[in-house]
Amino acid sequence: MTALPLSWYHAIAVRCSRRSYDKSRPIEKDAAEKLQQACGEFRPYSSARVEFVPEPPDDIFSHALGFYGNIKNARAFLAFIGDMSDVNVQEKLGYTGEGIVLEATSLGLGTCWVALTYRSKSALSMLKLSVGEKLLAVSPVGHTTEAWTFGENLFSAFGANRRRKPLASMVSGFDISHRPQWAEKAVEAARLAPSATNRQPWSFNIGEDSITVSISGGGPQYNVSKRLDCGIAMLHIELGALSCGVTGKWELLNQPQVARFQADHQ
Ligand SMILES: Cc1cc2nc3c(=O)[nH]c(=O)nc-3n(C[C@H](O)[C@H](O)[C@H](O)COP(=O)(O)O)c2cc1C
Repeated sequence: MTALPLSWYHAIAVRCSRRSYDKSRPIEKDAAEKLQQACGEFRPYSSARVEFVPEPPDDIFSHALGFYGNIKNARAFLAFIGDMSDVNVQEKLGYTGEGIVLEATSLGLGTCWVALTYRSKSALSMLKLSVGEKLLAVSPVGHTTEAWTFGENLFSAFGANRRRKPLASMVSGFDISHRPQWAEKAVEAARLAPSATNRQPWSFNIGEDSITVSISGGGPQYNVSKRLDCGIAMLHIELGALSCGVTGKWELLNQPQVARFQADHQ
């Protein structure tokens, strides 16, 4: 498995969904190349990949849905693509896609996972998919407008506690006073993971040297797999552990569990 950059851990606190982009400011050549490179290199699973499309995505985001406003003036986008013959494709794509999202964040670019409010036909016309592959989500990527728009404010807020459930409601296992620091950092990072409609459909069980991610009942389905959200949280867990110098391996599990992170012996 590819070693994760610590810069992605620092990007977690900064990342939030951005929906309003600066029409007049293209992504610099250097940043575009780095993003392209990250998409090529961060391929921990063969069934999940991200493509960077450095062209204006025309009407891809001209689709609002009740609570979500339109995404405006994006000049480029990321396409999250999975090979549907793999039963674990959703969590693998969440994990992989969030790596690229955090890379974009560290490059100073805005992103927003979008699995509902986009026109897949328009996006697909700009992509080449292999047999069995499916486009599961996209993200605008680019420089954002300085000011937050009203629509953005509805769905995001500054600061680490932005509209998240309390940690205690999603974490079980080792008593808080006995939890290793790496596990605490890992679940704190996972709590900040983005999820469709912010439903946070996960729970984390802390074991002696492990953290198990499971799907938790709550939140609407909206035709977006909760395993995709959980895959995003998996990457955050691994980065939180890494911030304490702890590495480990993932074992994928059957529903309602998703995966277990087993820390390497230090
Ligand atoms: C898998 C996934 C799908 C999402 N789909 C949409 C979408 O269709 N439209 C949209 O505007 N935001 C979408 N979002 C963004 C979430 O609403 C956002 O991540 C959540 O409200 C938490 O806010 P934050 O990302 O600012 O932390 C999606 C997020 C994820 C992870």
